[in-house]
Amino acid sequence: MGGSNRHGGVIKSCLIQADRTMTSGTELNATVDHMQAMLNDCNNRSPFLLQNEGEYQAWRQRKLSNRQALSASEVFKLDSSGRLPESSLNAVRRQIEAFNFAIFESAETLDKNAFLLLNEQFGLYRIDANPGADEDRVTSLRVVKPSDARSQYIPYTNRALNWHTDGYYNSLDRRIEAFALYCVNQAGRGGGNYLFDHEWMYLLIRDQSPDLLDALMSPDMMRIPANVQGRDVIRPEESGPVFSLQPDSCALNMRYTSRPRNIVWKSDKRSERALNLIREILMDGDAVVDIRLQNRQGLVCNNVLHGRQAFHDDAQRPARLIYRARYYDAIDIQQD
Ligand SMILES: [Fe+2]
Repeated sequence: MGGSNRHGGVIKSCLIQADRTMTSGTELNATVDHMQAMLNDCNNRSPFLLQNEGEYQAWRQRKLSNRQALSASEVFKLDSSGRLPESSLNAVRRQIEAFNFAIFESAETLDKNAFLLLNEQFGLYRIDANPGADEDRVTSLRVVKPSDARSQYIPYTNRALNWHTDGYYNSLDRRIEAFALYCVNQAGRGGGNYLFDHEWMYLLIRDQSPDLLDALMSPDMMRIPANVQGRDVIRPEESGPVFSLQPDSCALNMRYTSRPRNIVWKSDKRSERALNLIREILMDGDAVVDIRLQNRQGLVCNNVLHGRQAFHDDAQRPARLIYRARYYDAIDIQQD
């Protein structure tokens, strides 16, 4: 979605976060100037700003009609070189606009390099390197041995992952706008994913209780304590809003986790009501999309809300292996 904004509240939110993440005054000024310049590149007619009711209604209408016309579980076939064929680019663009994700299937198994090249076709270049990633910054999601330090993190086990958006704990300069998955081997049992378009979440909340969106866009809505292992600070403390507008793409970003561990939510009444509403909408299940990627299938998304079922590998078949790449870019499908 290409909604754009220039809004004092959002700028202020960015500045507060910059203040918490930077130490040097010179660096801070440079970052603030940079962010201000990026935000100024956006116009102030974003449908995601509460004062823009006309823009919101127009965007809402388009979103509804796209979703009614399309199927979220549509699988787009890649060509023999592992790319989206020219003939399906417009359909995939519309799919992303409707649901913020698209499922694809390759003819042959893609290696990690081909996976990265495909993601580039979606406009995804600036890849994040989380600590568990491989050297090429692609993460191989598989069950690791207990001796592997990653085994303490649920993604590297066969356990279920509850609702979240990727990198919700990341600092502002590492905000995850999109991610892609590619299934090399699915598990013998389980391992499905469930998805919920974060723009749809925004729409449902705005229709029901626009005042709660204010709370969710507050820069101190969530606080994530530092990740300290022994004497090493793996990640410093981070705080920020649930919904914000990406400074560079002006797209809607959502940061959320349903895990109560390692997150401190703002505890005033309005914030609590806002969080409860998110939980109710997710539990209601109406707009939840269940998928189970088959071998050679993948998913590209604008960091929608998602989770994973627990799974069990079958001793007779290769263990579950999913490639994952996270990006600082929002999806912007390139013309060949
Ligand atoms: Fe995730």
